[in-house]
Amino acid sequence: MVMKKRSISVLTVLYAILSLILVGLFLNKVLEIITPSPTAQLQAAIPVEERGNPLAIPAFLEDRDPDPMKAFYELDVQYGQMEFFPGVVTETLGYNGNILGPVLRIKRDQEVRIQVNNQLDEPTTAHWHGLDVDGPYDGGPHQGIMPGESWTATFSVDQPAATIWYHPHFHHTTGAQVYQGLAGLIYIEDEESEDLNIPKTHGENDFPLVIQDRNFTSDGSFHHNVTMMELEPGEVLLVNATMDPYLEVNRELIRLRVLNGSNYENFQLTFSDGSAFHQIASDGGFLEAPVEMESLFLSPGERAEILVDFSQVTSDHLALTTCSDTVLDFYLSGPVASAPAEFPESLVTVPDIPVGENPTTRTFVLESIGIHGTINGKEFDMDRVDEVVPKGETELWVIRNADRVGHRAGHPFHVHGTQFQVVSRNGNPPPPEEAGFKDTVFVANGEEVVIKILFHKEGLFMYHCHMLEHEENGMMGQVLVE
Ligand code: C2O
Ligand code: CU
Ligand code: CU
Repeated sequence: MVMKKRSISVLTVLYAILSLILVGLFLNKVLEIITPSPTAQLQAAIPVEERGNPLAIPAFLEDRDPDPMKAFYELDVQYGQMEFFPGVVTETLGYNGNILGPVLRIKRDQEVRIQVNNQLDEPTTAHWHGLDVDGPYDGGPHQGIMPGESWTATFSVDQPAATIWYHPHFHHTTGAQVYQGLAGLIYIEDEESEDLNIPKTHGENDFPLVIQDRNFTSDGSFHHNVTMMELEPGEVLLVNATMDPYLEVNRELIRLRVLNGSNYENFQLTFSDGSAFHQIASDGGFLEAPVEMESLFLSPGERAEILVDFSQVTSDHLALTTCSDTVLDFYLSGPVASAPAEFPESLVTVPDIPVGENPTTRTFVLESIGIHGTINGKEFDMDRVDEVVPKGETELWVIRNADRVGHRAGHPFHVHGTQFQVVSRNGNPPPPEEAGFKDTVFVANGEEVVIKILFHKEGLFMYHCHMLEHEENGMMGQVLVE
């Protein structure tokens, strides 16, 4: 009897403790919901009349080789500072500046040298995302540039005009370095791109848009908050590292080269007035013809060039938006035209990657649990070569996303060193905007995407999920091309 009484009282005490914990957790959650986050607090402190900043347009980097068939570029990886919030300094990283980097303009057939000087006190690399390049110059995890050192990539460009990009790739610090500001664009140009009757005046009717989500801590530092489950989504969208950006343009045809430069987030982009636009290029270059759309999906690492015709828009303002946020405000000036702007009905011929009789087929199964992931059940190992592929032979790669739930609904699968073509998505032909050259393809949960891939250059290349925190937490493999 006494025993029984005592055990009841122990249970009662335990029950009371448990309830207190639960109430505590609940109150904590409520508090979290009603107190604004540090990012929101910083934003709220900006006076309304001071919101809105002209969109920063990255400059073209000067080519220091006088020979027109050659190019020489120098990139300094350096520390910087930005004032996103009045009076609050944010420590940043940048190439040749405080944040992001200049646009490198290279011509097809040019022999290019890029010298990268690491002025940080941590290692970095410079990876040319989307470039067909020999393994040793790819700038992947094996080409670390130690503090104070320089590294020079040498390559000749043999691929069609495209908007590609560069970013660091040192294993385990890629996500953090990109988040702090390291990324830049490369424009590859060729005769076709020069001849096309489309807008091409940089900063006037042809604009790069590097879109990135960010969070901040209360002292103004970037908050790259990686939990067991995810990289916390950013509450702020920066475009070309501009907070609350706006762009003043004429009522005319505008070309936007959009990069999803986020570490972890997908974007579904639309115009606030619902107007349609045309996609003219994907990751690896122009599509055969402009594709009309009202909404553009880009997963991390993907690019799209779009033409948007403002010539008949009567209102003075509209915005590029995601479902929940304004990405970029446009202010229009000039007369309203009576007819839509003209642009070519067809763009280029996209050569079909040839497939032989019995192509080698490889399967890549993507799986993730929270921030961790695997490809074919294996976590990334820098000392393991996962696949050996002969140079010059087209293969079929089957990319299967074995996840059922969560994780931004899928994984952007990226391959270094070449551009591939999508053969099918769940057995169906790809949509027209995915029919050109790609280097990153979104594979939704439960989906199977088949690509045909042909490497022209030799060496060791990475393939990975381009959610950078997945990439550095297992979801990467290595292919040796020989
Ligand atoms: Cu943007 Cu390994 O790539
Ligand atoms: Cu890459
Ligand atoms: Cu992923």
